[in-house]
Amino acid sequence: MSAVIQARGISRSFGGITVLKDLDMTVHHGEFVAVTGRSGSGKSTLLGILGTLDRDFQGSLHVNGRDTAPMDAETLAALRRETMGFIFQDFHLLPNLSALENVLLPAVFSGRYMEPVEKEAESLLHRLGVRVDATPSRFLSRGERQRVAAARALAGRPMVLLADEPTASLDEASEEILFDLLDSMRREKGFALVAVVHTRSVMERADRVLDLREGVLHHEVIHA
Ligand SMILES: Nc1ncnc2c1ncn2[C@@H]1O[C@H](COP(=O)(O)OP(=O)(O)OP(=O)(O)O)[C@@H](O)[C@H]1O
Ligand SMILES: [Mg+2]
Repeated sequence: MSAVIQARGISRSFGGITVLKDLDMTVHHGEFVAVTGRSGSGKSTLLGILGTLDRDFQGSLHVNGRDTAPMDAETLAALRRETMGFIFQDFHLLPNLSALENVLLPAVFSGRYMEPVEKEAESLLHRLGVRVDATPSRFLSRGERQRVAAARALAGRPMVLLADEPTASLDEASEEILFDLLDSMRREKGFALVAVVHTRSVMERADRVLDLREGVLHHEVIHA
């Protein structure tokens, strides 16, 4: 089976404190990998490395079969655009743009804006239950903002969606609803999903659950 992300011997430290220790991780096309672990265990650090946003690590990272080590920033940015979608812990939405404009922003920046992109963005927002003209400064709920971030990440048709605790501070029902949507879209569109997850019922949906402890990933067995 081919891998969309292959990380080998990843180590990362900050000011002499080692967060990730010689860690290996492979993400296959279309699978759902849940990453869990206590606060400060390095989950965001790991997703930043897998997402090619942080290059200050030791080890090797292949994305869609390509070695990222020799790539310059521009090549890496193009690879990221072609293969990845992100939902960040704090969403990174622009408060004065509408939901639709937020979703379309990456396409505008990368010069790929076309009318079909707008149609797709509208349909994603509709499916995720957000009004296209809502603006983050007027969003009623964190859940709504999070669904706009999800639509934006999916509008680029990623091969892999990296979601860093997209449901932090949401209640369990909202977490279930978001993952219902992400998981059914994953099955339909075939992207891989790597998500930081804490709720057991959501972990049960994943193909694999990896627990980050002491800088190393441990396979966790989840009993339904
Ligand atoms: N840019 C940075 N500079 C210095 N230390 C950092 C930096 N980024 C992360 N760290 C440290 O690395 C460790 C892991 O942080 P990280 O954010 O990856 O944890 P996490 O598992 O995502 O935590 P949380 O569940 O709270 O989001 C922490 O001790 C943190 O302080
Ligand atoms: Mg984090």
